[in-house]
Amino acid sequence: MKRTKIKALLARTAPLEKVLIKGWVRTRRDTKEFSFMEVSDGSCLASIQVIVDAGSPGSEHLPALSTGAAVSVTGEMVPSPGKGQAFEIRSHTLELVGTAGETYPLQKKRHSDEFLRTIAHLRPRTNKYGAIMRIRSRTSHLIHRFFEEEGFFLIHTPVITGSDCEGAGEMFRVTTVSGTTPASEDFFGQETNLTVSGQLSAEMMALALGDVYTFGPTFRAENSHTSRHAAEFWMLEPEMAFCDLTGNMDLAEALIKYVVAGVLDTCSDDIALFANFVDKSLMKTLTSLRDDTYLRLPYREAVEILQKTKKKFEYPVSFGTDLQSEHERYLAEEHFKKPVFLYDYPKGIKPFYMRVNDDGETVAAMDLLVPRIGELVGGSQREEREDVLHQRMTEMNLPDKEYWWYMDSRRFGSVPHSGFGLGFERLLMLLTGITNIRDVIAFPRTPGSIDF
Ligand code: 4AD
Ligand code: MG
Repeated sequence: MKRTKIKALLARTAPLEKVLIKGWVRTRRDTKEFSFMEVSDGSCLASIQVIVDAGSPGSEHLPALSTGAAVSVTGEMVPSPGKGQAFEIRSHTLELVGTAGETYPLQKKRHSDEFLRTIAHLRPRTNKYGAIMRIRSRTSHLIHRFFEEEGFFLIHTPVITGSDCEGAGEMFRVTTVSGTTPASEDFFGQETNLTVSGQLSAEMMALALGDVYTFGPTFRAENSHTSRHAAEFWMLEPEMAFCDLTGNMDLAEALIKYVVAGVLDTCSDDIALFANFVDKSLMKTLTSLRDDTYLRLPYREAVEILQKTKKKFEYPVSFGTDLQSEHERYLAEEHFKKPVFLYDYPKGIKPFYMRVNDDGETVAAMDLLVPRIGELVGGSQREEREDVLHQRMTEMNLPDKEYWWYMDSRRFGSVPHSGFGLGFERLLMLLTGITNIRDVIAFPRTPGSIDF
């Protein structure tokens, strides 16, 4: 007999004569005549109640079925007299698959996020972390579905790279260790790093296929103990040929609206958990993200707003300042109270590849700032003019010979093109109300957390 997942059982409107479920015991309660167990299998937030009659086949295992134990149950799904659930299962045979015992760390009670981080290998068994992982999976699928519908091609960009896309130098070096040979400094004689962004490769593909995206792990060696930075995070990066900055912002806005609508439609139980227990204003935030038009404002005007406000910031702001998260959050959270794109940033604080505007002072960059998170998206129109790009690279001391292939794309059929990067974990924080990036990725890579 094939097992049925609890999600599929709970979606039924009619009883079933015979089912097989497999899962883990949440709680068990005994009376003289029967035992009640809540069993969950990870397929959804809800568990199903199983009634085991005293003396029925397998009931001898009951004393061993404590929280966390794994079971297999065949039985009949019948209407439940209890409140809160339509059906329950009356066990015909009960099998003990794996015990958990008294040392199981997730006994039924509320655990702090800090404690759960120390047992990252077990925390997906809790309601909250199970829900995060299901939402993470769904969000990922929605992203792929959006781009498929929009006619984009999924490309796979390398993890090991020879270039520093962002020019910030915050990279992990790759070294070779082979057999008994000691570790060498280089990747077969060449200096290489783990990628900080797939953008440069994505540009090459966009200039061949038109619209592409890459979605994969990205690495930054910023040793920052913040709640919004991880050393390994997933970045979504679309890149579009024949597209300017406005088209770029249009795409980011359409994508986020699509994903939020999809999550609200298809993950309502899991989202409700976060709206009830994590962030009381979550539904308001999500409906605003789905329904409101995002603001668009030049960086220069944002600086003026920040200079005029009475609010005191740790870092003062003037034209040319790289905005800090306190400024970004103030704008999205307190001033506008909705998502806002800032664009046309001073060129001095942005990487070499961004297109220089006619004013010679700013570049066609855009960041999307959202309440609670700050920067969710960073992107730009790319400098497609070979001479201007070359001059920028010289100003920034970037060696021509390392970027020969990149320059080729500006020599052969160069076209205006644009793209952005969206931090996937930050999107998940936005969707769930979770405030620490360590809690939306299964095994976070932040300074001091490498056990798992
Ligand atoms: O703004 P960033 O650095 O942009 C780029 O890397 C571009 N090359 C992307 C592109 O145009 N294709 O990073 C993009 C986004 C940020 O807005 C942020 O959401 C996320 O990636 N991000 C991080 N997320 C978690 N931990 C970190 N350390 C992050 N650094 C950036
Ligand atoms: Mg950025």
